[in-house]
Amino acid sequence: MKNVTVVLGAFYGDEGKGKVIDYLSADNKYAVRYSGGNNAGHSVEVNGVKFAFHLLPSGILYDNVKAILGNGVVIDPKVLIEEINNLKEKGYKVNNLYISEKAHVILPYHILLDETLEEARGNKLGTTKRGIGPAYCDKYERSGIRMEDFISRRFKDLLRENIRSKNIILKAYKKPKIKFDDIYKEYKEYAKILKPYVCDTITMLHKAVKNNEKILCEGAQASLLDIDFGSYPFVTSSNPTIGGAITGTGIGAKYIGEVYGVIKAYSSRVGAGPFVTELLDATGDKIRELGHEYGVTTKRPRRCGWLDTVALSYACMINGLTGLCVNHLDTIGKFDKIKMCVAYEYKKKKTTDFTTNIEFLSNCKPIYEEFEGNFGDISKCRKFEELPINAQKYINRIEELTEIPVKFIGVGAGREEIIVR
Ligand code: IMO
Ligand code: MG
Repeated sequence: MKNVTVVLGAFYGDEGKGKVIDYLSADNKYAVRYSGGNNAGHSVEVNGVKFAFHLLPSGILYDNVKAILGNGVVIDPKVLIEEINNLKEKGYKVNNLYISEKAHVILPYHILLDETLEEARGNKLGTTKRGIGPAYCDKYERSGIRMEDFISRRFKDLLRENIRSKNIILKAYKKPKIKFDDIYKEYKEYAKILKPYVCDTITMLHKAVKNNEKILCEGAQASLLDIDFGSYPFVTSSNPTIGGAITGTGIGAKYIGEVYGVIKAYSSRVGAGPFVTELLDATGDKIRELGHEYGVTTKRPRRCGWLDTVALSYACMINGLTGLCVNHLDTIGKFDKIKMCVAYEYKKKKTTDFTTNIEFLSNCKPIYEEFEGNFGDISKCRKFEELPINAQKYINRIEELTEIPVKFIGVGAGREEIIVR
């Protein structure tokens, strides 16, 4: 009955969701992306070959898995075709891809607007400039172009109308006009390529649920980047949290069983916005170097700091997490002493209540507990009991503070370097 599992980010993104997703994929019949677009960057390694996905669900690598881009996703056709072609070059047939007819399309003017608006506000948000925000704006403003329109004759008229209105905005920002002919000529070809993949994924998933087939919803972005629950306005424009898995797929809540939140044993954030445990010193730099904290999507160096269990507990709460996955335990174990934020100090008072209010977050000071590090090489550990006692203590404390069991532990970069409990 509860045959749907959701894996989502429990911090500010880049938690290594791909690793758990990859582990769980083999056991599922469906892999579904439900929110965001190619602002995501998920790496998986299969038989020594590295894959970086921005849009495709990583489940696509399994022939027996049907990979779905759900209705909640925004799709850049050009990027999607590139990803499909990359896979074909590596010998994958990609005949297990299904795209929701209700997913919205990212067009060149969305990317242009993303750049223009970021520039106008002085790069205040640090978006990925992939057109994500403007595409979701159009969706909610009801002028967006869905996949079903994109592959139909309606595309021409809808595109013309959209370009007319976007040119008014671009003119106000003193940007050159965009030309209908150029975009139409290029994108109608993309539509032809993608048409065979477009279908009613909602009915497809309903049938799967009825047949008791296992479904894995692959979250992109993360809880603290959620448009409602994140540190607004320093957020993305969709719901990466549990609600998005429902509205972005059409799967009913009663079918969802496990909801796994992924974190790293430390914290990172890319782009602007508050980050209570950020380390702007040599320790932060060391985490970045040891953890290779540079963006898969934008190559930007990520901001790094100690694990923040106050923020994490909030993510556990808003998602109703049933389990945690802690990645990079090996990385944090390279430090002699490790810190974990267990409470905040705000206006001279100690608190463990988290809110994403910017004034609050910008003025909180982390209260840390210190742990012994030097875990040594833990990459061969496959059972919790095999971990050195200091590593066990660190994980146990996360469980105590969040009251959520840690079900997966990443002990190395490789696919098999994972402890499953
Ligand atoms: P994955 O799936 C990390 C951040 C951007 C920016 C903010 C808004 O790899 O975890 P957007 O382009 O979405 O409008 O940018 O959100 N951001 C991410 N940070 N990982 C991601 O995805 C992200 N997707 C968006 O850096 O601060
Ligand atoms: Mg990322």
